[in-house]
Amino acid sequence: MASAQSTTAYPAGQSSTPSGHNTASMVDLRSDTVTQPSQAMREAMASAAVGDDVFGDDPTVNRLEETLAEILGKEAAIFLTSGTQSNFAALLAHCARGEEILTGREFHVFGYEARGASVLGGIALTPLPVSADGGLEPADITTAVQPDDPHFPISKLLSLENTVTGRAVPLARQEAAAKAGRDAGLAIHLDGARFFNAAVALGVSPTELAASADSISICLSKGLGAPAGSVLCGPRSLIDKARRWRKMLGGGMRQAGVFAAAGLHALEHHRAGLADDHARAAKLRDALAAMPGLSVDTSPGQTNMVHVALETSEPDRIVQNLASDGLKLLGGARMRLVVHRDLGDADIDRTIDAFKSALSNAA
Ligand SMILES: Cc1ncc(COP(=O)(O)O)c(C=O)c1O
Repeated sequence: MASAQSTTAYPAGQSSTPSGHNTASMVDLRSDTVTQPSQAMREAMASAAVGDDVFGDDPTVNRLEETLAEILGKEAAIFLTSGTQSNFAALLAHCARGEEILTGREFHVFGYEARGASVLGGIALTPLPVSADGGLEPADITTAVQPDDPHFPISKLLSLENTVTGRAVPLARQEAAAKAGRDAGLAIHLDGARFFNAAVALGVSPTELAASADSISICLSKGLGAPAGSVLCGPRSLIDKARRWRKMLGGGMRQAGVFAAAGLHALEHHRAGLADDHARAAKLRDALAAMPGLSVDTSPGQTNMVHVALETSEPDRIVQNLASDGLKLLGGARMRLVVHRDLGDADIDRTIDAFKSALSNAA
């Protein structure tokens, strides 16, 4: 385990919970977006060389864009404010009004971005079933592509995702889906909000994992631990179009190098730590799977998320006990625990103990 990751300290002498833990600090398992910039990251931000990025003058933004384009083996890149804005700019750059995007029903682009491409872009979003491993079935893609007929939208883009709710979609599955799309004349976008989690878990290089997509959106503010920002990578002509959309979407920032410096720091210093998050998530997953009253998804390919269902008569009481034992959680009887760089071994142990205690108190 990398020692760079922090563990939460529990100051002595404060009130303790039913399982004897201190509630002064919480174990925040809601998302990897809760990560705080480290001191070294803050220093990199403070000393960043900056300029007006709308004029293309910010050397740190330019360096971040060049760095990620190179890591992914793409021609160009653009820094955007968020994953949603990055996906949105990509979809708008790929498609025109009256065209159609095929994507997964449970993917973020379809389910959690308010259907922005349809609402603001006049682009149809058509959802396909997502398989248990997070992939789309090539046959579903081929069948969904519309014939050239004025009754239908013009199928234009296949939007994939990796990881999918914490599952690293195997390289061959991603490639097979992309090939089905390409064979039908579609361009390919990849929502890689947690792309590096996928690459690390699959043991493939970022270039290899990126090769089947034309455009890829990467989030810096999830497991990588930067405070904000996403980068869209792809062919220069597409990135030029996305730059115009970014301006229209109000995402043209000025001295954005302060944020880009955090992203560069994360790429350089935090990528390796994703493997530690996965190892800690695996430890938590295994421990919870062994507890009666919990149904835990132990299927292969998982990265930093643990999916747990409470199968007890009083799930609300257990959720309450977990909260009073210092866990910050999202969801009720079904929850997703997200492990990230601000959680150390002690936090995982504390989480396991809290579940043990909550379950035994409810029994
Ligand atoms: C898979 C996926 N894509 C895109 C996003 C959007 O990122 P943001 O919250 O930065 O808009 C998220 C956010 O959680 C995500 O999980």
